[in-house]
Amino acid sequence: MPSLAIIGGTGLDQLDGLEIVDRHCVQTPYGDPSRAVEEGRMAGQQVFFLQRHGSPRAIPPHLINYRANLWALRSLGASQVIGINAVGGITPAMLTGTLVIPDQVIDYTWGREHTVDVGEGGSLQHIDFTEPYSLALRAALLRAARDAGLEHEAGGVHGVMQGPRLESAAEVRRLARDGCDLVGMTGMPEASLARELGLDYASVCMVVNPAAGLSDAPITLDSMRDALARGAGAVRALLQAYIAA
Ligand code: HPA
Repeated sequence: MPSLAIIGGTGLDQLDGLEIVDRHCVQTPYGDPSRAVEEGRMAGQQVFFLQRHGSPRAIPPHLINYRANLWALRSLGASQVIGINAVGGITPAMLTGTLVIPDQVIDYTWGREHTVDVGEGGSLQHIDFTEPYSLALRAALLRAARDAGLEHEAGGVHGVMQGPRLESAAEVRRLARDGCDLVGMTGMPEASLARELGLDYASVCMVVNPAAGLSDAPITLDSMRDALARGAGAVRALLQAYIAA
């Protein structure tokens, strides 16, 4: 298996089952990654793990150094990256607790350092982003989910908002009209930077709330964390099934 890195999102601070053998404080041309990258072994495979919000301080989505994170993982030898994202559900199938392997993305973020193309070196980064996620990695994740008997949605459009605030109800209605099934804050520019850096990238999403305006219940960080704690087992089981395959 190519060397795998997992980027953990909200509520996934560590990867249970990862036997940590080293911690790497990587310096990159873009500054510091969110925290030290853990290197470990899982099911006999080398796996790197990076929590994108850092710890103990939680870095908000718009201030994450996505470039440094991906650069650091590549510099350690990772060639595949799976990003874990907590998201809100928009379309009816995307109920709280649903595990989703999205197949498309719409980027609504702004002002983030979103490219390694800084206009130097003569190589333009007009990456092909028709398929924003690695087809091969998605297919392998879908196979692993199926083989492990994990209920999941095999596709979906992930709308990525700037945050850190949640959306207004009208914004969610617009996202639905645009064709988004899910809404999150951290899926971009992670996916496109991975492509620029030549990394195979796919996302695994866990729906942790109905998006704004779609339910009467208030959306709180506590309710999201609760949903994530309940769903983390499925994310972990999927990662373990993928790694062991
Ligand atoms: N909106 C944006 N990001 C999120 C949400 C949401 O409803 N839930 C979890 N991350």
